[in-house]
Amino acid sequence: MSKDSLSIKDNRTGKSYEIEIDDGNIKAKDLRQIKVNEDEFGMMCYDPSYENTAACKSSVTFIDGDNGILRYRGYPIEQLADKSSQLEVAKLLLDGELPTSDELDKWLSDIKEFNNVPDGIENIIKSFPQDSHPMGVLISSIAALGTFYPNAKNITDEEENYKNICRLIAQVPILAAYFYRHSKGLNIVPPDDSMSYSENFLNMLFDGDEKKMNPALVDAMDTLLILHADHEQNCSASVMRNTGSSEPDPFSSVASATAALYGPLHGGANEAVLEMLSDIDSVDNIPSFLDKVQKKEVKLMGFGHRVYKSYDPRAKFIKKAADNVFEITGTNPLLDIALKLESIALSEDYFIQRNLYPNVDFYSGLIYESMGIPTPMFTVLFTIGRTPGWLAQWNELLNDKEQKIARPRQVYTGYDSRDYKDISDR
Ligand code: CMC
Repeated sequence: MSKDSLSIKDNRTGKSYEIEIDDGNIKAKDLRQIKVNEDEFGMMCYDPSYENTAACKSSVTFIDGDNGILRYRGYPIEQLADKSSQLEVAKLLLDGELPTSDELDKWLSDIKEFNNVPDGIENIIKSFPQDSHPMGVLISSIAALGTFYPNAKNITDEEENYKNICRLIAQVPILAAYFYRHSKGLNIVPPDDSMSYSENFLNMLFDGDEKKMNPALVDAMDTLLILHADHEQNCSASVMRNTGSSEPDPFSSVASATAALYGPLHGGANEAVLEMLSDIDSVDNIPSFLDKVQKKEVKLMGFGHRVYKSYDPRAKFIKKAADNVFEITGTNPLLDIALKLESIALSEDYFIQRNLYPNVDFYSGLIYESMGIPTPMFTVLFTIGRTPGWLAQWNELLNDKEQKIARPRQVYTGYDSRDYKDISDR
Protein backbone atom coordinates (compact mmCIF):
# COMPACT_ATOMS: atom_id res chain seq x y z
CA MET A 1 0.00 0.00 0.00
CA SER A 2 1.42 3.41 -0.98
CA LYS A 3 1.93 5.80 1.93
CA ASP A 4 0.44 8.84 0.23
CA SER A 5 -2.97 7.31 -0.18
CA LEU A 6 -6.25 6.94 1.61
CA SER A 7 -7.86 3.51 2.02
CA ILE A 8 -11.62 3.61 1.92
CA LYS A 9 -13.83 0.64 2.62
CA ASP A 10 -17.40 0.88 1.39
CA ASN A 11 -19.41 -1.10 3.95
CA ARG A 12 -22.38 -1.26 1.57
CA THR A 13 -20.43 -3.48 -0.82
CA GLY A 14 -17.38 -4.59 1.16
CA LYS A 15 -15.18 -3.13 -1.62
CA SER A 16 -11.97 -1.23 -0.77
CA TYR A 17 -10.48 1.68 -2.67
CA GLU A 18 -7.06 3.37 -2.66
CA ILE A 19 -7.33 7.10 -3.23
CA GLU A 20 -4.19 9.11 -3.96
CA ILE A 21 -3.29 11.90 -1.54
CA ASP A 22 -1.72 14.88 -3.27
CA ASP A 23 -0.40 17.72 -1.11
CA GLY A 24 -2.49 16.46 1.81
CA ASN A 25 -5.75 16.33 -0.12
CA ILE A 26 -7.73 13.91 -2.23
CA LYS A 27 -9.34 14.71 -5.57
CA ALA A 28 -13.12 14.72 -5.17
CA LYS A 29 -13.41 13.12 -8.61
CA ASP A 30 -11.49 10.05 -7.38
CA LEU A 31 -14.51 9.25 -5.22
CA ARG A 32 -16.62 8.80 -8.33
CA GLN A 33 -15.41 5.19 -8.69
CA ILE A 34 -17.19 4.32 -5.42
CA LYS A 35 -20.61 2.97 -6.31
CA VAL A 36 -22.95 0.14 -5.36
CA ASN A 37 -24.20 -0.55 -8.90
CA GLU A 38 -22.25 0.02 -12.12
CA ASP A 39 -25.01 2.25 -13.58
CA GLU A 40 -24.83 4.69 -10.65
CA PHE A 41 -23.19 8.10 -11.07
CA GLY A 42 -20.75 7.40 -8.24
CA MET A 43 -20.00 9.08 -4.93
CA MET A 44 -19.62 12.86 -4.63
CA CYS A 45 -18.75 15.14 -1.70
CA TYR A 46 -21.75 17.04 -0.35
CA ASP A 47 -20.36 20.37 0.81
CA PRO A 48 -22.94 23.17 0.97
CA SER A 49 -21.21 26.58 1.17
CA TYR A 50 -17.86 24.94 0.30
CA GLU A 51 -16.77 24.69 3.93
CA ASN A 52 -14.22 21.99 3.15
CA THR A 53 -13.68 22.16 -0.59
CA ALA A 54 -10.59 23.55 -2.32
CA ALA A 55 -11.72 24.66 -5.77
CA CYS A 56 -8.29 25.75 -7.00
CA LYS A 57 -4.59 25.82 -6.28
CA SER A 58 -3.45 29.36 -5.58
CA SER A 59 -0.20 31.11 -4.74
CA VAL A 60 -1.68 34.58 -4.22
CA THR A 61 -2.78 34.80 -0.59
CA PHE A 62 -2.14 32.66 2.47
CA ILE A 63 -4.39 32.66 5.54
CA ASP A 64 -3.84 30.72 8.75
CA GLY A 65 -7.19 31.27 10.40
CA ASP A 66 -6.30 29.64 13.72
CA ASN A 67 -3.29 31.85 14.26
CA GLY A 68 -4.57 35.06 12.66
CA ILE A 69 -2.00 35.14 9.86
CA LEU A 70 -2.55 36.79 6.46
CA ARG A 71 0.12 37.08 3.77
CA TYR A 72 0.02 38.32 0.18
CA ARG A 73 2.54 36.37 -1.95
CA GLY A 74 4.32 35.43 1.28
CA TYR A 75 4.60 38.97 2.68
CA PRO A 76 2.90 39.53 6.06
CA ILE A 77 -0.03 41.92 5.76
CA GLU A 78 1.31 44.03 8.64
CA GLN A 79 4.57 44.75 6.76
CA LEU A 80 2.75 45.62 3.55
CA ALA A 81 0.25 47.86 5.36
CA ASP A 82 3.14 49.62 7.14
CA LYS A 83 5.57 50.03 4.26
CA SER A 84 3.89 49.59 0.88
CA SER A 85 1.22 51.39 -1.17
CA GLN A 86 -2.01 50.11 -2.69
CA LEU A 87 -0.64 50.17 -6.23
CA GLU A 88 2.60 48.44 -5.28
CA VAL A 89 0.56 45.77 -3.48
CA ALA A 90 -1.68 45.44 -6.55
CA LYS A 91 1.40 44.76 -8.69
CA LEU A 92 2.66 42.25 -6.12
CA LEU A 93 -0.67 40.42 -6.12
CA LEU A 94 -0.78 40.33 -9.91
CA ASP A 95 2.86 39.41 -10.64
CA GLY A 96 3.87 37.46 -7.56
CA GLU A 97 6.92 39.66 -6.81
CA LEU A 98 7.46 43.15 -5.46
CA PRO A 99 8.24 45.40 -8.44
CA THR A 100 11.69 46.92 -8.93
CA SER A 101 11.82 50.69 -9.01
CA ASP A 102 11.62 50.78 -12.86
CA GLU A 103 8.78 48.27 -12.91
CA LEU A 104 6.89 50.28 -10.30
CA ASP A 105 7.37 53.55 -12.25
CA LYS A 106 6.02 51.91 -15.40
CA TRP A 107 3.07 50.41 -13.52
CA LEU A 108 2.13 53.75 -11.93
CA SER A 109 2.33 55.51 -15.27
CA ASP A 110 0.27 52.75 -16.97
CA ILE A 111 -2.46 53.11 -14.34
CA LYS A 112 -2.50 56.87 -14.98
CA GLU A 113 -2.56 56.35 -18.74
CA PHE A 114 -5.71 54.25 -18.46
CA ASN A 115 -7.58 56.48 -16.04
CA ASN A 116 -9.77 58.30 -18.55
CA VAL A 117 -13.27 56.88 -18.26
CA PRO A 118 -15.11 56.89 -21.60
CA ASP A 119 -17.29 59.97 -22.22
CA GLY A 120 -20.57 58.05 -22.09
CA ILE A 121 -19.97 56.83 -18.54
CA GLU A 122 -20.66 60.18 -16.89
CA ASN A 123 -24.14 60.26 -18.47
CA ILE A 124 -24.82 56.66 -17.43
CA ILE A 125 -23.89 57.45 -13.82
CA LYS A 126 -25.91 60.66 -13.83
CA SER A 127 -28.96 58.73 -15.05
CA PHE A 128 -29.21 56.93 -11.69
CA PRO A 129 -31.48 58.44 -9.01
CA GLN A 130 -29.33 60.46 -6.59
CA ASP A 131 -30.52 58.34 -3.66
CA SER A 132 -29.55 55.01 -5.32
CA HIS A 133 -27.37 52.71 -3.26
CA PRO A 134 -23.82 53.36 -4.55
CA MET A 135 -23.10 49.62 -4.74
CA GLY A 136 -26.01 49.12 -7.16
CA VAL A 137 -24.60 51.94 -9.26
CA LEU A 138 -21.07 50.56 -9.07
CA ILE A 139 -22.09 47.04 -10.13
CA SER A 140 -23.99 48.47 -13.10
CA SER A 141 -21.38 51.00 -14.13
CA ILE A 142 -18.51 48.48 -14.01
CA ALA A 143 -20.54 46.23 -16.34
CA ALA A 144 -21.35 49.27 -18.50
CA LEU A 145 -17.68 50.22 -18.64
CA GLY A 146 -16.90 46.91 -20.34
CA THR A 147 -19.21 47.81 -23.24
CA PHE A 148 -16.82 50.63 -24.18
CA TYR A 149 -13.94 48.17 -24.53
CA PRO A 150 -15.26 45.41 -26.84
CA ASN A 151 -11.77 43.88 -27.25
CA ALA A 152 -11.81 43.03 -23.54
CA LYS A 153 -13.50 39.75 -24.43
CA ASN A 154 -10.26 38.59 -26.11
CA ILE A 155 -9.05 37.08 -22.88
CA THR A 156 -6.35 34.98 -24.52
CA ASP A 157 -4.60 38.21 -25.55
CA GLU A 158 -2.23 39.05 -22.69
CA GLU A 159 -1.64 42.62 -23.84
CA GLU A 160 -5.37 43.25 -23.95
CA ASN A 161 -5.80 41.72 -20.49
CA TYR A 162 -3.05 43.96 -19.10
CA LYS A 163 -4.79 47.07 -20.45
CA ASN A 164 -8.10 46.02 -18.93
CA ILE A 165 -6.51 45.23 -15.59
CA CYS A 166 -5.06 48.77 -15.61
CA ARG A 167 -8.41 50.23 -16.65
CA LEU A 168 -10.30 48.45 -13.89
CA ILE A 169 -7.83 49.41 -11.14
CA ALA A 170 -7.70 53.01 -12.40
CA GLN A 171 -11.36 53.51 -13.19
CA VAL A 172 -13.35 51.75 -10.43
CA PRO A 173 -12.47 54.61 -8.00
CA ILE A 174 -13.50 57.14 -10.66
CA LEU A 175 -16.92 55.51 -11.12
CA ALA A 176 -17.35 55.54 -7.35
CA ALA A 177 -16.34 59.20 -7.01
CA TYR A 178 -18.49 60.31 -9.96
CA PHE A 179 -21.57 58.79 -8.37
CA TYR A 180 -20.73 60.24 -4.96
CA ARG A 181 -20.55 63.74 -6.48
CA HIS A 182 -23.76 63.16 -8.46
CA SER A 183 -25.59 61.87 -5.35
CA LYS A 184 -24.70 65.13 -3.57
CA GLY A 185 -25.61 67.31 -6.55
CA LEU A 186 -21.98 68.42 -6.86
CA ASN A 187 -19.79 68.97 -9.92
CA ILE A 188 -17.69 66.01 -11.12
CA VAL A 189 -13.99 66.26 -10.20
CA PRO A 190 -11.80 64.60 -12.86
CA PRO A 191 -8.75 62.50 -11.90
CA ASP A 192 -5.53 64.40 -11.21
CA ASP A 193 -2.44 62.62 -12.55
CA SER A 194 -0.10 64.47 -10.21
CA MET A 195 -1.60 62.70 -7.19
CA SER A 196 -1.11 59.25 -5.69
CA TYR A 197 -3.91 56.68 -6.08
CA SER A 198 -5.50 57.32 -2.68
CA GLU A 199 -4.95 61.08 -2.73
CA ASN A 200 -6.55 61.26 -6.17
CA PHE A 201 -9.54 59.27 -4.95
CA LEU A 202 -10.08 61.54 -1.93
CA ASN A 203 -9.65 64.56 -4.21
CA MET A 204 -12.31 63.25 -6.61
CA LEU A 205 -14.65 62.88 -3.63
CA PHE A 206 -13.85 66.08 -1.76
CA ASP A 207 -12.55 68.46 -4.46
CA GLY A 208 -9.37 69.57 -2.72
CA ASP A 209 -10.94 70.06 0.75
CA GLU A 210 -7.70 70.35 2.73
CA LYS A 211 -9.15 69.05 5.97
CA LYS A 212 -10.43 65.86 4.36
CA MET A 213 -7.24 65.39 2.36
CA ASN A 214 -4.82 65.68 5.26
CA PRO A 215 -1.77 63.47 4.41
CA ALA A 216 -2.47 61.29 7.46
CA LEU A 217 -5.96 60.59 6.09
CA VAL A 218 -4.55 59.85 2.62
CA ASP A 219 -2.16 57.37 4.29
CA ALA A 220 -4.99 55.80 6.27
CA MET A 221 -7.05 55.38 3.09
CA ASP A 222 -4.12 53.67 1.35
CA THR A 223 -3.59 51.37 4.34
CA LEU A 224 -7.26 50.39 4.36
CA LEU A 225 -7.13 49.61 0.63
CA ILE A 226 -4.06 47.40 1.18
CA LEU A 227 -5.76 45.54 4.04
CA HIS A 228 -8.73 44.80 1.76
CA ALA A 229 -6.73 43.94 -1.37
CA ASP A 230 -7.14 40.16 -1.32
CA HIS A 231 -8.41 37.42 0.94
CA GLU A 232 -8.00 34.16 -0.98
CA GLN A 233 -11.14 32.22 -1.94
CA ASN A 234 -13.82 34.33 -0.23
CA CYS A 235 -17.35 34.67 -1.59
CA SER A 236 -16.61 37.46 -4.10
CA ALA A 237 -13.26 35.99 -5.27
CA SER A 238 -15.04 32.69 -5.88
CA VAL A 239 -17.68 34.54 -7.88
CA MET A 240 -14.90 36.29 -9.84
CA ARG A 241 -13.43 32.87 -10.66
CA ASN A 242 -16.80 31.23 -11.36
CA THR A 243 -17.88 34.01 -13.71
CA GLY A 244 -14.39 34.17 -15.24
CA SER A 245 -14.48 30.44 -15.90
CA SER A 246 -17.16 30.92 -18.57
CA GLU A 247 -14.67 33.33 -20.23
CA PRO A 248 -16.47 36.69 -20.43
CA ASP A 249 -14.56 40.00 -20.40
CA PRO A 250 -13.02 40.93 -17.00
CA PHE A 251 -15.40 43.91 -16.53
CA SER A 252 -18.34 41.47 -16.38
CA SER A 253 -16.48 39.25 -13.91
CA VAL A 254 -15.57 42.21 -11.67
CA ALA A 255 -19.18 43.44 -11.81
CA SER A 256 -20.38 40.03 -10.61
CA ALA A 257 -17.74 39.89 -7.86
CA THR A 258 -18.83 43.39 -6.77
CA ALA A 259 -22.41 42.13 -6.48
CA ALA A 260 -21.23 39.26 -4.27
CA LEU A 261 -19.30 41.68 -2.08
CA TYR A 262 -22.38 43.89 -1.58
CA GLY A 263 -24.16 41.52 0.86
CA PRO A 264 -24.06 42.23 4.63
CA LEU A 265 -22.38 38.89 5.42
CA HIS A 266 -19.43 39.89 3.19
CA GLY A 267 -18.27 43.42 2.26
CA GLY A 268 -21.59 44.98 3.21
CA ALA A 269 -20.81 44.24 6.86
CA ASN A 270 -18.89 47.53 7.27
CA GLU A 271 -22.07 49.47 6.52
CA ALA A 272 -24.13 47.15 8.74
CA VAL A 273 -21.71 47.66 11.67
CA LEU A 274 -22.20 51.42 11.61
CA GLU A 275 -25.98 51.00 11.49
CA MET A 276 -25.76 48.53 14.40
CA LEU A 277 -23.61 50.87 16.51
CA SER A 278 -25.97 53.78 15.81
CA ASP A 279 -28.96 51.63 16.79
CA ILE A 280 -27.29 50.54 20.04
CA ASP A 281 -26.85 54.27 20.67
CA SER A 282 -25.31 54.08 24.15
CA VAL A 283 -22.96 51.77 26.07
CA ASP A 284 -25.82 51.22 28.54
CA ASN A 285 -27.74 49.35 25.83
CA ILE A 286 -24.91 46.88 25.06
CA PRO A 287 -26.01 44.13 27.52
CA SER A 288 -29.55 44.03 26.12
CA PHE A 289 -28.18 44.04 22.55
CA LEU A 290 -25.84 41.13 23.32
CA ASP A 291 -28.73 39.31 24.92
CA LYS A 292 -30.58 39.51 21.59
CA VAL A 293 -27.45 38.25 19.78
CA GLN A 294 -27.26 35.21 22.05
CA LYS A 295 -30.95 34.49 21.47
CA LYS A 296 -30.06 34.65 17.74
CA GLU A 297 -32.53 37.46 17.13
CA VAL A 298 -29.75 39.59 15.60
CA LYS A 299 -26.11 39.13 14.60
CA LEU A 300 -23.19 41.03 16.02
CA MET A 301 -22.07 42.52 12.71
CA GLY A 302 -18.31 42.79 12.18
CA PHE A 303 -17.75 39.66 14.27
CA GLY A 304 -17.03 36.13 13.12
CA HIS A 305 -15.36 34.73 10.05
CA ARG A 306 -15.46 31.51 8.07
CA VAL A 307 -11.68 31.16 8.18
CA TYR A 308 -10.40 33.16 11.18
CA LYS A 309 -10.97 31.45 14.48
CA SER A 310 -8.85 34.05 16.24
CA TYR A 311 -8.48 37.84 15.92
CA ASP A 312 -8.57 38.92 12.26
CA PRO A 313 -5.08 40.44 11.69
CA ARG A 314 -6.64 43.12 9.50
CA ALA A 315 -8.92 44.20 12.36
CA LYS A 316 -5.92 44.41 14.70
CA PHE A 317 -4.10 46.70 12.27
CA ILE A 318 -7.18 48.82 11.56
CA LYS A 319 -7.72 49.37 15.27
CA LYS A 320 -4.19 50.82 15.43
CA ALA A 321 -4.69 52.92 12.25
CA ALA A 322 -7.89 54.35 13.75
CA ASP A 323 -5.87 56.21 16.40
CA ASN A 324 -3.91 58.09 13.69
CA VAL A 325 -7.14 59.09 11.98
CA PHE A 326 -8.92 60.14 15.17
CA GLU A 327 -5.94 62.34 16.06
CA ILE A 328 -6.80 64.43 12.99
CA THR A 329 -10.58 64.14 12.90
CA GLY A 330 -11.38 63.90 16.61
CA THR A 331 -12.72 60.66 18.01
CA ASN A 332 -15.83 59.05 16.60
CA PRO A 333 -18.58 58.99 19.27
CA LEU A 334 -19.47 55.44 18.19
CA LEU A 335 -15.93 54.26 19.02
CA ASP A 336 -16.73 54.01 22.74
CA ILE A 337 -19.68 51.75 21.95
CA ALA A 338 -17.55 49.61 19.64
CA LEU A 339 -14.71 49.20 22.16
CA LYS A 340 -17.08 48.32 24.99
CA LEU A 341 -19.06 45.98 22.75
CA GLU A 342 -15.87 44.18 21.76
CA SER A 343 -14.59 43.84 25.31
CA ILE A 344 -17.89 42.52 26.68
CA ALA A 345 -18.42 40.16 23.73
CA LEU A 346 -14.92 38.72 24.01
CA SER A 347 -15.54 37.79 27.62
CA GLU A 348 -18.90 36.07 27.06
CA ASP A 349 -19.22 32.30 26.65
CA TYR A 350 -21.37 32.56 23.52
CA PHE A 351 -18.52 34.25 21.59
CA ILE A 352 -15.68 32.33 23.27
CA GLN A 353 -17.20 28.94 22.49
CA ARG A 354 -17.76 29.86 18.84
CA ASN A 355 -14.38 31.62 18.39
CA LEU A 356 -16.05 34.84 17.34
CA TYR A 357 -13.67 37.82 17.15
CA PRO A 358 -13.85 41.21 15.40
CA ASN A 359 -13.22 40.99 11.67
CA VAL A 360 -11.94 43.61 9.22
CA ASP A 361 -15.31 45.33 9.07
CA PHE A 362 -15.73 46.00 12.80
CA TYR A 363 -13.56 49.12 12.93
CA SER A 364 -13.12 50.13 9.27
CA GLY A 365 -16.50 51.90 9.08
CA LEU A 366 -15.67 54.07 12.10
CA ILE A 367 -12.58 55.32 10.28
CA TYR A 368 -14.44 55.95 7.04
CA GLU A 369 -17.18 57.84 8.87
CA SER A 370 -14.64 60.03 10.64
CA MET A 371 -13.08 60.77 7.25
CA GLY A 372 -16.43 62.18 6.10
CA ILE A 373 -17.44 59.25 3.90
CA PRO A 374 -21.16 58.44 4.01
CA THR A 375 -22.13 54.97 5.29
CA PRO A 376 -23.53 53.59 1.98
CA MET A 377 -20.12 54.28 0.38
CA PHE A 378 -18.23 51.97 2.77
CA THR A 379 -18.64 48.82 0.68
CA VAL A 380 -17.64 50.83 -2.39
CA LEU A 381 -14.29 51.45 -0.68
CA PHE A 382 -13.97 47.73 -0.02
CA THR A 383 -14.58 47.16 -3.76
CA ILE A 384 -11.83 49.61 -4.75
CA GLY A 385 -9.44 47.85 -2.37
CA ARG A 386 -10.42 44.35 -3.51
CA THR A 387 -10.36 44.93 -7.30
CA PRO A 388 -6.61 44.09 -7.67
CA GLY A 389 -7.12 40.89 -5.65
CA TRP A 390 -10.00 39.78 -7.87
CA LEU A 391 -7.88 40.46 -10.94
CA ALA A 392 -4.93 38.50 -9.51
CA GLN A 393 -7.30 35.56 -8.87
CA TRP A 394 -8.65 35.91 -12.41
CA ASN A 395 -5.14 35.96 -13.91
CA GLU A 396 -4.28 32.83 -11.99
CA LEU A 397 -7.47 31.15 -13.22
CA LEU A 398 -6.66 31.96 -16.86
CA ASN A 399 -3.22 30.37 -16.52
CA ASP A 400 -4.36 27.26 -14.65
CA LYS A 401 -4.59 24.31 -17.02
CA GLU A 402 -6.56 22.30 -14.46
CA GLN A 403 -9.47 24.76 -14.50
CA LYS A 404 -12.57 24.39 -16.66
CA ILE A 405 -15.94 26.10 -16.55
CA ALA A 406 -17.15 26.02 -12.92
CA ARG A 407 -20.07 23.69 -12.65
CA PRO A 408 -20.90 22.17 -9.26
CA ARG A 409 -23.04 19.04 -8.94
CA GLN A 410 -26.16 18.70 -6.81
CA VAL A 411 -27.84 16.08 -4.70
CA TYR A 412 -31.27 15.98 -6.33
CA THR A 413 -34.11 15.84 -3.77
CA GLY A 414 -37.11 16.50 -6.03
CA TYR A 415 -39.81 14.30 -7.56
CA ASP A 416 -39.19 11.36 -9.85
CA SER A 417 -40.74 11.68 -13.28
CA ARG A 418 -44.45 12.53 -13.19
CA ASP A 419 -47.02 13.46 -15.81
CA TYR A 420 -48.18 16.99 -16.55
CA LYS A 421 -51.67 17.70 -15.19
CA ASP A 422 -54.15 19.93 -16.99
CA ILE A 423 -54.95 23.04 -14.99
CA SER A 424 -58.52 21.85 -14.36
CA ASP A 425 -57.18 18.70 -12.66
CA ARG A 426 -54.80 20.38 -10.17
N1 CMC B 1 -23.06 37.16 15.57
C1 CMC B 1 -23.64 36.17 16.29
N2 CMC B 1 -23.45 34.86 16.10
C2 CMC B 1 -22.61 34.52 15.12
C3 CMC B 1 -21.94 35.48 14.33
C4 CMC B 1 -22.20 36.84 14.59
N3 CMC B 1 -21.61 37.79 13.88
N4 CMC B 1 -21.18 34.85 13.42
C5 CMC B 1 -21.33 33.54 13.63
N5 CMC B 1 -22.19 33.33 14.65
C6 CMC B 1 -22.59 32.04 15.24
C7 CMC B 1 -23.55 31.31 14.32
O1 CMC B 1 -24.89 31.65 14.62
C8 CMC B 1 -23.21 29.88 14.62
O2 CMC B 1 -23.80 29.55 15.87
P1 CMC B 1 -24.31 28.02 16.15
O3 CMC B 1 -23.07 27.18 16.17
O4 CMC B 1 -25.00 28.11 17.47
O5 CMC B 1 -25.26 27.69 15.03
C9 CMC B 1 -21.70 29.90 14.85
O6 CMC B 1 -21.41 31.23 15.28
C10 CMC B 1 -20.89 29.58 13.60
O7 CMC B 1 -21.22 30.53 12.62
P2 CMC B 1 -21.53 30.21 11.11
O8 CMC B 1 -22.67 31.08 10.67
O9 CMC B 1 -21.65 28.75 10.90
O10 CMC B 1 -20.19 30.71 10.45
P3 CMC B 1 -19.93 31.00 8.93
O11 CMC B 1 -18.52 30.65 8.67
O12 CMC B 1 -20.96 30.34 8.07
O13 CMC B 1 -20.17 32.59 8.78
C11 CMC B 1 -19.85 34.91 8.73
C12 CMC B 1 -19.16 33.53 8.74
C13 CMC B 1 -18.77 35.97 8.52
C14 CMC B 1 -20.84 35.00 7.56
C15 CMC B 1 -20.58 35.10 10.08
O14 CMC B 1 -19.66 35.06 11.15
C16 CMC B 1 -21.35 36.42 10.12
O15 CMC B 1 -22.50 36.47 9.65
N6 CMC B 1 -20.75 37.52 10.67
C17 CMC B 1 -21.40 38.82 10.65
C18 CMC B 1 -21.23 39.47 9.28
C19 CMC B 1 -19.82 39.97 9.06
O16 CMC B 1 -19.24 40.64 9.92
N7 CMC B 1 -19.28 39.69 7.86
C20 CMC B 1 -17.95 40.17 7.46
C21 CMC B 1 -16.98 39.05 7.29
S1 CMC B 1 -15.29 39.67 7.18
C22 CMC B 1 -15.28 40.62 5.73
C23 CMC B 1 -15.26 39.77 4.52
O17 CMC B 1 -14.15 39.32 4.14
O18 CMC B 1 -16.32 39.55 3.94
